[in-house]
Order: sequence, then C-alpha cells, then structure tokens
Amino acid sequence: MLFDTHAHLNDPAFDPDREELMNGLAAKGIGYVMNAGCSLRSSRDIVKMAEAYPWLYGSVGSHPDSADEVNEEVIEEYRKLCRHEKVKAIGEIGLDYYYEDIPRDIQKNAFRMQMALAKELDMPVIIHEREAHDDGMRIVKEFPTVTGVFHCYSGSAEMARQLVKMGWYIGFTGVLTFKNARKAVETAASIPLDRIVIETDCPFMAPEPYRGKRNDPGYLPRMAEKLAEIRGISPEEAARITTENAKRLYRIEE
Ligand code: NI
Repeated sequence: MLFDTHAHLNDPAFDPDREELMNGLAAKGIGYVMNAGCSLRSSRDIVKMAEAYPWLYGSVGSHPDSADEVNEEVIEEYRKLCRHEKVKAIGEIGLDYYYEDIPRDIQKNAFRMQMALAKELDMPVIIHEREAHDDGMRIVKEFPTVTGVFHCYSGSAEMARQLVKMGWYIGFTGVLTFKNARKAVETAASIPLDRIVIETDCPFMAPEPYRGKRNDPGYLPRMAEKLAEIRGISPEEAARITTENAKRLYRIEE
C-alpha cells in the first residue's frame, strides 16, 4: 500500500468526479493520503473531508500565497483544528520567492508564527519552499525541535543531506519522472532511504507520461517505480519503505 504524503483532493479540479475517484484509490494500491491545507478556509474543508474516509488525513496551515491572512486569531483557529484526531501536521507553510505574490517579510512572519505553533503543539510540519533556500533554512534552524517534510523538494542534494541530519524527511513528486529532473534524481539517489517520502501534489505535477494532465493519487505508483529504479530496489520495496517513512513522519500508528 502506498502513502500519498501530499495531495489537494479538495481542489475544484476534482469536483466533477471526486467521490468516484476517492472510492477507486484502494484498488490502485493507495492506502493513505495526506490532504494538505493551504489557507484557513481550505484547512476547514480538509478536516471535514478527512472525517468521511478512514484512510484520509489532513494538515492545516496557510501556504505562502495566503501568508497575508495569518494573525493571532487565525493561529488560534489552527490551534483548535489541530485537536482533531485526523489532523496530523501543520502545513503547507513556508516561503515562495518564485511567484512572490506576497511580500517576503509577510511570508517570513507567517512562516515563523506557524513554526512556533508546531513547536508549541509538538506536531510535524509540511514545508513549501521554492526559490527561498537560504531564508527557508535559516527559519527552520530557529526551531530545532520542529521537523517534518520538505515537500516537492527543489533544493540541492547537499541541502537535503543537511536537512536529513537535522531529522527532516524529503518529499518527491512526479518531477522525479521528468526528463530534466537531474537535481531531484541526484537528491533521491544520495539521501538515506528511510528519509524519503513520495507524493502527488495533485491536481498538479502529474508524472510522465501524463505530464500536464490532472494528477491524482492513483498515479503515485509511477513515483514508487521511479524511486525503485533510482535506488536499485524493487517497486514493492520502495512502496513498503516510503509508506513506513510516511507513517513515522505523520505519527500514524495503525
Ligand atoms: Ni501542495
């Protein structure tokens, strides 16, 4: 059974056939999905969705694109949502200097406030970090007791090795299957296997040969196959190891 460690099944792209899709995932070998929040509104939707499916978990938090909504009241709402038994992480939080829709200072402030909440509640975090490697690492190091996953990892292999030493997990999407994915492949080849998790980030980031189409957790076996190829192990082994890692990351017992 595979664990999709980062999905957005609440996305409107799934409105036409969501239930059918969700009910078909087990037959495709998908045993668990982490649905990641991006804003207070989507986090609330995600908690409701997680109640309806035993294999579906949720994270709550404001993505850098929604960093301007974060204040003490919003943090208090997240604090309450985190008491729900299906909420297993705070995220996705972090920095995005690629689009930079929100000024950097506001992004950094929202990131720090949510890292502080993770520290207070002793919960793992899901980090979104794009083109902001230096500031991302700096803020992460301000909270040495907080760890989690750098999702859709886009940094260097060297930075990944450093993160692993600090207790972090590294998440790989369908980018791993792209022809120009040299950096992601190099990273996946060089860090300990017990720190690697796989994800779809659906509806975005569909793997080859479906690149550009709507992605969904049913495509996750492609990522396990690609990881197996990179590491010289069987796809079954890649599935077993990444699922164990994901359960350890999100502290899921069963
Ligand atoms: Ni995402």
